[in-house]
Amino acid sequence: MAEKDYEIIDHAHDVIVVGAGGAGLRATFGMVAAGLKTACISKVFPTRSHTVAAQGGVGAALGNMAEDNWKWHMYDTVKGADWLGDQDAIEYMCREAIPAVYELEHYGVPFSRTEDGKIYQRPFGGHMRNFGEAPVERACAAADRTGHAILHTLYQQSLKHDAEFFVEYFALDLIMDDDGVCRGVMAWNLADGTLHRFTAQLVVLATGGYGRSYFSCTSAHTCTGDGSGMAARAGLPLQDMEFVQFHPTGIYGAGCLITEGARGEGGYLTNSQGEAFMERYAPTAKDLASRDVVSRAMTIEIREGRGVGQENDHIFLHLEHLGGDVLHKRLPGITETARIFSGVDATKDPIPVLPTVHYNMGGVPTNYRGEALRPTASDPDAVCPGLMAIGEAACVSVHGANRLGTNSLLDLVVFGRAAAIRATEIVDKGAQSRSLPKDAGMQSIQRLERLRNADGGLTTADIRLNMQRVMQTDAAVFRTDKTLKEGCEKIDASARSLADIKLNDRSMIWNSDLVEALELENLMACSKVTIESAAARKESRGAHAHEDYPDRDDTEWMKHTLAYVDGNWNVRLDYRPVHTYTLTDEVEYIEPKARVY
Ligand code: FUM
Repeated sequence: MAEKDYEIIDHAHDVIVVGAGGAGLRATFGMVAAGLKTACISKVFPTRSHTVAAQGGVGAALGNMAEDNWKWHMYDTVKGADWLGDQDAIEYMCREAIPAVYELEHYGVPFSRTEDGKIYQRPFGGHMRNFGEAPVERACAAADRTGHAILHTLYQQSLKHDAEFFVEYFALDLIMDDDGVCRGVMAWNLADGTLHRFTAQLVVLATGGYGRSYFSCTSAHTCTGDGSGMAARAGLPLQDMEFVQFHPTGIYGAGCLITEGARGEGGYLTNSQGEAFMERYAPTAKDLASRDVVSRAMTIEIREGRGVGQENDHIFLHLEHLGGDVLHKRLPGITETARIFSGVDATKDPIPVLPTVHYNMGGVPTNYRGEALRPTASDPDAVCPGLMAIGEAACVSVHGANRLGTNSLLDLVVFGRAAAIRATEIVDKGAQSRSLPKDAGMQSIQRLERLRNADGGLTTADIRLNMQRVMQTDAAVFRTDKTLKEGCEKIDASARSLADIKLNDRSMIWNSDLVEALELENLMACSKVTIESAAARKESRGAHAHEDYPDRDDTEWMKHTLAYVDGNWNVRLDYRPVHTYTLTDEVEYIEPKARVY
């Protein structure tokens, strides 16, 4: 099979952004505004990107409802991250949060308002006042549809700035040259079957997370780790992938998100004895402890026989005491979701919930400017020229071992903007037409050929389901050496079973079978490195709760995992130091200590 059998269309830009969620759009129009010829490729229409599903708010210490300070926000984020976050990047994010949210307001985000017209803020898990004293209202909210409001506003801004969109184009692979410089992206136009070779001085991966590696998650079906898969195939590492966040309140059986903002507004969890059990696990923050803490507490309650329902296998979330007025004004979306997906009228009855996979702290390692890293023995912060990653696809690392709620929308806008700022410094405007490596794009064509002709015994759905069940069982809220060892073996077998895949449709036009197979290869790379990174980390930290090693071990394990996966699904692990310094002298490094809420 040769290139001539495919119609290939060439494009030249200064910058290519892959993904049109919050981070991708913020970067795209920031770059266009700076005069860079920028294209944004997205496999779905921009306003269908998963950012649309974010609910409770975007974190910023505006102090609209009570005194607040970005340094308290920084402290909470470092503590929430269980000291695996890079404090220079955390300082940057929490400081920039305030102008970033005002910028969103000026762009037109329809935030909810206080009586005196300020942006409404609610408490959220792990966000406290005065270095951990008591919960503080820090989540800037547009009812419980904050992501929807932000995504639509950013898309409008992108249109206003005349950004060039390639919609329903599936990004296949990075184009790398022999010097390891990223030179572009190959993409497939799903509508007409043509292939597109985009050359650029800078490629920005903004492809989101890989929640769909798991059986039950709050993530859209499109969250398939495409950017991580592309980076891994290009020989780049994925960082801290063992840290997978379980959101405490996914609807039991359906997985749909019930925002933490519900607990921010006064909701609470109970077990089968009607006990508000979080008081035992987190006496100060209670139901507003950070997510890993609440998810573990719920799992323990269920394991010890105090779950609710016929099978004693879930927990109740109570909102009924808040009253219809509060629910309809502040939480209209989840009130409707509860009715549709659990048949519950939240004004009258508790909602059945269960910890559900929600967010990936790991991703392509970057610095706080968005530049992707290719660490070397002598320089753990070495940059991979021509490549950036932002949003959930990236690991900056501001979330460390556990992200605080609302810091995800914040990460999108702060680092989308940071990437645009950095691009103006490193991209030579207008010099986009450069010659490409001779075989540019051949790797993608070979992948397409292999999959289109795959005639084995297993469907994509068979392999995906197997992978998702293993991840759900063996890389769960609690892990042990035994479950992780078994999980590694099973995921390895699942990855190797891809050699026996069968596709039913060979077309290049609207071939969802082919899309799902490509997505599965990306998911599999993510699953593989997640479980192997988890098996190697012999401690408990943040979302990685290892029952054989229940304590955090800062001497041995305060380091970022780097995982490389080769074409034969073999994983190699390495490590790089956590940044134990701040960006400026305005704040001091926050020393590790016990993490209690
Ligand atoms: O619970 C939520 O509304 C989710 C927010 C987040 O993940 O940041």
